[in-house]
Amino acid sequence: MKNILVTGAGGQLGLTLKELAPRYPDLHFEFKTRAELDVTNKENVEKIFSAFQYDYCINCAAYTHVENAEKEPEQAHEVNAEGVKNLAHACLENNLVLIHISTDYVFDGKKNSPYGTKDIPNPINEYGKSKWLGEQYIQKLLSRFYIVRTSWLYSKTFGKNFYKTILENAIKGEELRVTDTQTGSPTNTISLSNFLIETLILHNADFGIHHFTDNTAMTWFTFAQKIILENGLTDKVKLLRQSNYNSLAKRPEYSVLDVGK
Ligand SMILES: NC(=O)c1ccc[n+]([C@@H]2O[C@H](COP(=O)([O-])OP(=O)(O)OC[C@H]3O[C@@H](n4cnc5c(N)ncnc54)[C@H](OP(=O)(O)O)[C@@H]3O)[C@@H](O)[C@H]2O)c1
Repeated sequence: MKNILVTGAGGQLGLTLKELAPRYPDLHFEFKTRAELDVTNKENVEKIFSAFQYDYCINCAAYTHVENAEKEPEQAHEVNAEGVKNLAHACLENNLVLIHISTDYVFDGKKNSPYGTKDIPNPINEYGKSKWLGEQYIQKLLSRFYIVRTSWLYSKTFGKNFYKTILENAIKGEELRVTDTQTGSPTNTISLSNFLIETLILHNADFGIHHFTDNTAMTWFTFAQKIILENGLTDKVKLLRQSNYNSLAKRPEYSVLDVGK
């Protein structure tokens, strides 16, 4: 039996893992929401990690609001960098493997071909900078870790995300303007969860940095088209291509991740 502690369990990835957990009777999961385990509270982290012999921590906790991170960068850093440092220390002291989720936004988006795990990050916004710092803390402190960079994460069921927003607005019959200035790979939380559980935990993948996406590159505009088509709403909604994107945070233009190691 492997014991797995999941932090940030109230988010879209954490909730997906919770839904899938009963399929794995040989794995014992414990899910902690932010209210139950605030990763920025070092004492709280140490107390929970030392109270039980966990084998893995899957860190789904993060400050994920890319726009707000520009306005309050210290809050983003507190969770995505200092909080991750707390988890890495606790993993070291209590002999856990840390599975940490990171992002395509650690890259600047100037490459024009998929980013490999050996490409050097160069984040262009506060969210990306905070996530990159979190990655660096893990690499400095731990040898038994997985940093899993993913991109354009969405759940059809949980949380707030692009998929659900487009679907909700399309159902209302609204005119939708979606940018075609960024290219990335949408990733369903179910496929990411399967990768974390099956490839990393059950098949003991090599430690280190991994890239995982659903491996189909597209623009946000194309993704919106696919969502509308998949839900049979093509006749109901007017989808307009927008060649600019109003955003406080700079966004990488091309952030496709190479999923082969
Ligand atoms: N969403 C994407 O497009 C995307 C893309 C690439 C990578 N990622 C990464 O994937 C991971 C999972 O993201 P997600 O989409 O599932 O995010 P999410 O839905 O925003 O969930 C993040 C969870 O972390 C919690 N949290 C925030 N601060 C915390 C703290 N101090 N201590 C403990 N929990 C805290 C949040 O709680 P509250 O809601 O109460 O704040 C929320 O439940 C993150 O590491 C994210 O950076 C996401």
